[in-house]
Amino acid sequence: MKIDLSLSKKSTKRAEILGIGCFEGPHHFPKGYVLENSLADILKKLSSEKKFSGKCGESYLVLSPKSKAADVVLFIGLGKKEKYRLSCVRNSTAKLLSQAKSFQHSFAALDLDSLAEAFSINEVAGAAVEGARLSDYRFDKHKSKPTPKKDISLTLVSQEESASSSIRAAASEAEILSEAVYFTRDLANEPANIMTPPALAKVVREMASKNNLDCTLLTVSQMKKLGMGGVLGVCQGSSYEPQFIILENRVKSKEAPIVLVGKGVTFDTGGISIKPSNNMDHMKFDMCGAAAVVGAMKAIANLKIQTRVVGITPIVENMPGSKAQRPGDIIKCMNGKTVEVLNTDAEGRLILADALCYAERYKPKVLIDIATLTGACPATFSDIATGLMSTDEDLVRRLKEIGERTGERMWELPLWDEYADLIKATYADIQNISKKMAGTITAGMFLKEFAEHTKVWAHLDVAGTAWIEGGPKLLTPIGATGVGVRVFVRLVQSYTKK
Ligand code: BES
Ligand code: MN
Ligand code: ZN
Repeated sequence: MKIDLSLSKKSTKRAEILGIGCFEGPHHFPKGYVLENSLADILKKLSSEKKFSGKCGESYLVLSPKSKAADVVLFIGLGKKEKYRLSCVRNSTAKLLSQAKSFQHSFAALDLDSLAEAFSINEVAGAAVEGARLSDYRFDKHKSKPTPKKDISLTLVSQEESASSSIRAAASEAEILSEAVYFTRDLANEPANIMTPPALAKVVREMASKNNLDCTLLTVSQMKKLGMGGVLGVCQGSSYEPQFIILENRVKSKEAPIVLVGKGVTFDTGGISIKPSNNMDHMKFDMCGAAAVVGAMKAIANLKIQTRVVGITPIVENMPGSKAQRPGDIIKCMNGKTVEVLNTDAEGRLILADALCYAERYKPKVLIDIATLTGACPATFSDIATGLMSTDEDLVRRLKEIGERTGERMWELPLWDEYADLIKATYADIQNISKKMAGTITAGMFLKEFAEHTKVWAHLDVAGTAWIEGGPKLLTPIGATGVGVRVFVRLVQSYTKK
């Protein structure tokens, strides 16, 4: 399906289906919004007959609305005005398009003005584009007969003529973000026999050269020289060489950069501490952190953001085998700290340890890592929130705010000193698993040991949010979500002086 996004003061072409957002309660619309008379009568009747009240998730299809604008009107419930978030706009757009598709419509329109409560028309337009694009994603390249996509166009309608150039800018920004999310989802959905460490590195290198990013790959001998015992230990059992990629946007500024670090385990068998076979296929998604960093860098380059950003991804495959590391092995990471590998399945933190040490060479003003790190994280948050741990209150505040805005919520867990005892080792400095529960926090505490010279650091555990299983969601089919891409871009923008 192709979505053609155009903006106009009034929809020039009559739409087959028009989506109009409706809040819950007596005043369904933002202040000053005027609904066509014929539609206003219908809506009044619907609410008095209790057929539609505007609750979030509710929608009502009016088949012959006698409207000037469209053949069919879809009233989309937005919930209470006090609880309104941009996610409602994304979801409403997705709902409209899925309705249009089920009717085989090819011309849909969305009334932006009905959605502009509490947000500017630009923000609403951007969110609508994101909702349209993100919900339209498919990964069917490996099907010999992919279901054909029907052409559909979506017109965003607004009476706010004065804002039209800034609406356009917001919409094109959303296009760039969505394209980056698609790139990330594509990388992550690819199976591990195809997206091997060298294959992933190749795709990233090609992306970098097409998108005006500097790309450096460390050689294995450089990794050895740097003392990256974590990366080298985890990859031992694999027949593929480890990859270590550094991406950098091209800006004039020599300021301390924002550094993003993403876990790239192309497949996590658990190694010698092997995982049970149930759902082990999901471990092709264990490189979602790396994919998010790479996607964010692509968007940052295409948006021509002038803040200096560095993206770092250690990439390995975690396999058992005669050369694999064993439980009890002791390794030395890049900063000289020694680790007792009590469980070879807690591998993400080992490669991230070296990547964080490497990141610290840039003296980052902000350092963030993203990783499908612990099964304990979705045990707490399911796929509703990303686990957030940080050493800086201001960064937490920014991330939580951006989480609300992007719809990718993050929630903080503590990194109190008391938790450090749980990873003190008998034979080395620290061990890679906890002595006593707190799986997500102790993984965060472990990483903190390798970001110790950076004041402003955060760790995002996306084990629950990086992909969706079970059934599709409005904005994502089953598979990789691309979580983190939009968050990183918004975060970098929040540090960028306008
Ligand atoms: N990649 C996994 C974490 C994971 C598990 C993500 C399930 C998503 C779903 C990670 O490498 C891992 O295996 N973690 C272990 C750590 C444990 C051995 C301390 C876990 O969570 O079980
Ligand atoms: Mn593991
Ligand atoms: Zn893993």
